Amino acid sequence: MSDNLELVGLRTLVTGGTKGIGQAVVTRLSEAGARVLATARERADHLTPQHHFVAADVASAEGCAVVADAVSRLLGGIDIVVHVVGGSSAPGGGFANLDDREWQRAFDQNLFPAVRLDRALLPKMLQQGSGVIVHITSIQRQLPLPESTIAYAAAKAALSNYSKGLSKEVSPKGVRVVRVSPGWVETEAAVRLVERLAKTDGTDYETAQRGLMGALGGIPIGRPTKPREVADLVAFLVSPRAAAITGTEYVIDGGTVPTV
Ligand SMILES: NC(=O)c1ccc[n+]([C@@H]2O[C@H](COP(=O)([O-])OP(=O)(O)OC[C@H]3O[C@@H](n4cnc5c(N)ncnc54)[C@H](OP(=O)(O)O)[C@@H]3O)[C@@H](O)[C@H]2O)c1
Repeated sequence: MSDNLELVGLRTLVTGGTKGIGQAVVTRLSEAGARVLATARERADHLTPQHHFVAADVASAEGCAVVADAVSRLLGGIDIVVHVVGGSSAPGGGFANLDDREWQRAFDQNLFPAVRLDRALLPKMLQQGSGVIVHITSIQRQLPLPESTIAYAAAKAALSNYSKGLSKEVSPKGVRVVRVSPGWVETEAAVRLVERLAKTDGTDYETAQRGLMGALGGIPIGRPTKPREVADLVAFLVSPRAAAITGTEYVIDGGTVPTV
């Protein structure tokens, strides 16, 4: 069965929808016919007039309220939410360099936007008895890396746990809640990082990329995941073909996680 246009007219919010994975999700779901509202702090050039956009910092309660209001105003309701926003810019140097501010920032970026927006948007989904929520986690929630990202990994673990609990509450009422857990994804920011490492080490892109993959313990398929591949998985999970899927987490990491 073709999956062309299987999301026609579905009112969709994608947080972090202007770069990397979020940009790919916006494009992919729009291609399937969804009416997409993308959000980020700054508008991006690739968004067409076909896309709705609202600028807001969702690391704050006020920013989440702006987005929830835009959903009502611009979409008139909600069928699908894809929580992509997240990441880490914490300094290296180990646990001692992660002060309270850094820990708070990790949770403000990776957990609370989902908690606040779900709380604002779920009542409409419950009222209509249908909806799908996708939380983008990370393999670091089960495979934490030392040094700079332990707060990020802990926040993603919290997001995953929250998502599972939420699914138990709302799935019997018609709303599916699923998680997608990427390994290393070759976003534009990732490409820039590899280029920077190659320059610093006086080597080429492939060697720097192999070094990074080695730091993850290796990627069995020999390359990072592409943003479009994550977006394809999300497109399937929000579609009617995934109607029996809720409360589970899908890892997309080229085999990076070494355990069962
Ligand atoms: N890339 C990977 O290798 C990887 C691996 C595992 C998991 N993930 C997860 O996948 C998700 C996307 O990662 P990515 O690498 O694709 O991200 P990215 O390229 O850094 O893009 C982040 C997006 O979120 C927006 N954003 C960031 N902070 C925001 C804020 N406070 N308020 C509103 N919007 C904000 C950015 O736009 P503005 O800057 O304009 O706000 C942008 O649209 C994250 O949750 C990340 O943890 C990524």
